[in-house]
Amino acid sequence: MPAHLLSVDSLCRDDVDHLIRIAERMEPIAQRRKVTRVLEGAVLGNLFFEASTRTRISFNAAFCRLGGSVCDTTGFTFSSMAKGESLYDTSRVMGGYVDAIVMRHPEQGSVAEFAEATQVPVINGGDGPGEHPSQALLDVYTITKEFARLGKPLAGAHLLLTGDLKYGRTVHSLIKLLSLYEPLRITLVSPPGLEMPPHLVDLVASRGHRIETRPNLAESFDDVDVIYATRIQRERFTAEMSESFAELTSDFVVDRDFLDRRCSPTTLVMHPLPRDSRPGANDLSTDLNGDPRLAIFRQTDNGIPMRMAIFAHLLQVEDLIEKDLRDVGWFVPPSFGVDDASF
Ligand code: NCD
Repeated sequence: MPAHLLSVDSLCRDDVDHLIRIAERMEPIAQRRKVTRVLEGAVLGNLFFEASTRTRISFNAAFCRLGGSVCDTTGFTFSSMAKGESLYDTSRVMGGYVDAIVMRHPEQGSVAEFAEATQVPVINGGDGPGEHPSQALLDVYTITKEFARLGKPLAGAHLLLTGDLKYGRTVHSLIKLLSLYEPLRITLVSPPGLEMPPHLVDLVASRGHRIETRPNLAESFDDVDVIYATRIQRERFTAEMSESFAELTSDFVVDRDFLDRRCSPTTLVMHPLPRDSRPGANDLSTDLNGDPRLAIFRQTDNGIPMRMAIFAHLLQVEDLIEKDLRDVGWFVPPSFGVDDASF
């Protein structure tokens, strides 16, 4: 694995398996039973030039749970980029201050350009409509974990990816990672104009997977093992597009009725979040809250061990994780949410 994590293109199947094995070893720390200090003294720079809740906070929490500290900046307004500073200068400056950098930026390719000016590991936390590699890794970690719980093999599984497949960077990284697995069946459903980029469809097909496109969720579906819904990325629309997408129909909404009528009791529902829960948003429905098939919060929880694994690997402390483990001394609730399923 290279020094930075900019795209899933740099990962082979062995790398993914290796990161999953490290993430599994991080679980006692992520679930707040154990404390480790392997990154004591290390500092993370979190640079977020686009809105974020979970990616920024979970990278931050993952670094802290390894014993490190975090410095961050959010938005352009409070950074020197607002004064015209280049990605090159910002990168070199940050490299002198911190031991690892996570960056989110609205322009595709910008995080890779930033990484060219520093030898400190850089993780792409989302570059416009480009990629979001750590999200895809935690998604694949979630899928493998849930399939193991259900006693299902991943080979031959049917995954349905729906929503904004054009601008949704999480599905771009996810579909490439999934293509490294044994042959899968992948169905893509998106509003017209928001389809998965053709080069990604071709890549997946060339690796032996069965990939199909459907115009909406009203079409017949059988044996869906995983539904991965995404938010319509309106912030990336041109003014012209915003007008034509004003009236998106509910044909793309995943809700309890769709699941009960068309899917099985073991179908998993995933989403990178945030889901847009405002009326008329046409995103993953809140009527699934409390349904054990809804895996979205197990998915967000998995972001901590996977991001810890990424740091431990890039900063080369993975062999030291268990060395100084101590028991947690503070109160930890038995589960983190009020509606969590107990398996
Ligand atoms: C996503 C993102 O920012 O790409 N969120 C996330 O990081 N989990 C998805 C989105 O914004 O819709």
